[in-house]
Amino acid sequence: MLITLKEIFKYANKDIAIGAFNIHNLEFIKGVVSAAETANRPCIMMINEAVLKYGGIEVLGGAALAAARKSSVDMAVMVDHGSDIDFLKKCLDFGIDVMFDGSHLPFEENISTTKMMAEYAHERGLSIEGEIGQLGLSEDGDEESEQKITTVNEAVTFTNSTGIDVLAISVGNVHGFYKGEAKINVLRIKEISNALKHMPIVMHGGSDIPYTTIRESIEAGIRKFNIATDLKQAYAIKMYELMHQKEMPIQPLQLFPVVAEAVSKVALEKIKIFSSES
Ligand code: 13P
Repeated sequence: MLITLKEIFKYANKDIAIGAFNIHNLEFIKGVVSAAETANRPCIMMINEAVLKYGGIEVLGGAALAAARKSSVDMAVMVDHGSDIDFLKKCLDFGIDVMFDGSHLPFEENISTTKMMAEYAHERGLSIEGEIGQLGLSEDGDEESEQKITTVNEAVTFTNSTGIDVLAISVGNVHGFYKGEAKINVLRIKEISNALKHMPIVMHGGSDIPYTTIRESIEAGIRKFNIATDLKQAYAIKMYELMHQKEMPIQPLQLFPVVAEAVSKVALEKIKIFSSES
């Protein structure tokens, strides 16, 4: 069933974070839904703003909403890392929750724009994620940007001034693969979570983080773990294998269910880790 981003956190607690997976096409949608149904756990499908502009709000966004509505478990659908106000308003008008990422903006401007978007989302019965602090790599893993660890004061001021439903923070997490082992500032997660109490906190850049660090982060207060790269890698490796057989398969149905299964397998592993089941 389709529920909102805000509602899905009724399933999260100090042992359980909600898995949020970036989807790019039907195979990712099928893979993620099948993982959630197999685990019998709710999860979030996220669509990056650029991907949604390519796939279309009605076509790709509509497919994700339809898949969530049909699912046997509760699921939310949201735009990930949105910054185009007009586009995000169209997504909200269509019924898709959003993340407004103003983390690159000056603090006051991030607050005022996020607040405006939060009001727009709430008027439509939908939810919004905001971000304060800055991660090291953009979510497509290409651009390197300066990393800014979120302070407790910033997190509190930002949350109280914007009316957001979910908060993304920067605590050493980066998008894409980590250079060496991920160094997550678990103490800062705990400090922010203690200061904010009931606000769900998000870890972006959730791929390539070791099991123990994932579990420590959840215990410290993370309630949503974002995963893109680990699924994209599983998809690409499987597609590569299929295309490099002696005889290259050209029937889409020889390819699509197989790559969907590869996505599903990794999503299921992650959901189990986030639910403390492995
Ligand atoms: P990864 O690509 O590192 O998994 O990050 C995903 C993410 O945070 C999307 O917003």
